[in-house]
Amino acid sequence: MAPRTTRPVGTPTRGTTNPNRLRRMDRWIAAVHGPALRRSPEAPVAVDLGYGAAPWTAVELLARLRTADPRTRLYGIEIEPARVEAAKPYEHDGLSFVHGGFEVPVPGPVALIRAANVLRQYDEEQVTAVWRRLCERLAPGGLLVEGTCDEIGRRHVWVALDRSGPRTVTFATRLGSLERPSDLAERLPKALIHRNVPGEPVHAFLRDFDRAWAAAAPYASLGARQRWIRAVRDLAADWPLTDGPRRWRQGEVTVRWEALAPRE
Ligand SMILES: C[S@@+](CC[C@H](N)C(=O)[O-])C[C@H]1O[C@@H](n2cnc3c(N)ncnc32)[C@H](O)[C@@H]1O
Repeated sequence: MAPRTTRPVGTPTRGTTNPNRLRRMDRWIAAVHGPALRRSPEAPVAVDLGYGAAPWTAVELLARLRTADPRTRLYGIEIEPARVEAAKPYEHDGLSFVHGGFEVPVPGPVALIRAANVLRQYDEEQVTAVWRRLCERLAPGGLLVEGTCDEIGRRHVWVALDRSGPRTVTFATRLGSLERPSDLAERLPKALIHRNVPGEPVHAFLRDFDRAWAAAAPYASLGARQRWIRAVRDLAADWPLTDGPRRWRQGEVTVRWEALAPRE
């Protein structure tokens, strides 16, 4: 690739990461976006944007995407040049590390951009413009997944977007670690975290989810998984969920973005 002549778009932030931290997000992407990857006439190109101080999440994302389509190639992009140098020894056929930012400096449109724990350190007002910029880099049928999780990946919330904008919000958790669904509130992505207040849809959603979880308490004797599935089934009466029991079994639930979008 030609040497860059302009500054990457964005600001370096803390590089905290952990091996296997993003496994829930990786698996969801491979399951939900796998068919689109396989439909691509060319080898699909994916991006792990802001992979952090070590390249683990990029290495793992590629491995999981290749279970969906073995042709997949992946670029890890970091705005902090020293983190790119540190990742270079891990390059191999189909995996490259590149210095850059929200401009996504890789050739051509891409099938997937994953940005995990990146926007949390920016301002809420910046999110829409960053989303728009990243979505412009997507190929037709491409996906942007932007979200947040805890240090060891037990609790995640992410937004999935296509070229036309946000489509869904997914909540994913290790069920054994959950006291109530609103425990996930602290992992809401930047676009929603400041909106978890009365009067905002995401607050109403988590309130209803906690109520459904409480009503499903008798199922706890069958295990947290059965309780989650029961609670999510109840939630589906009032909220537009886009997934079903196969994903719920994984400790996930996905909701249409319009139902949770912040009020203006
Ligand atoms: C907290 S780490 C997250 C690492 C990894 N994605 C994870 O979830 O474990 C955030 C990383 O994003 C990088 N970053 C921040 N803004 C960026 C941008 N505009 N483009 C590329 N990387 C960015 C930071 O330098 C930092 O290394």
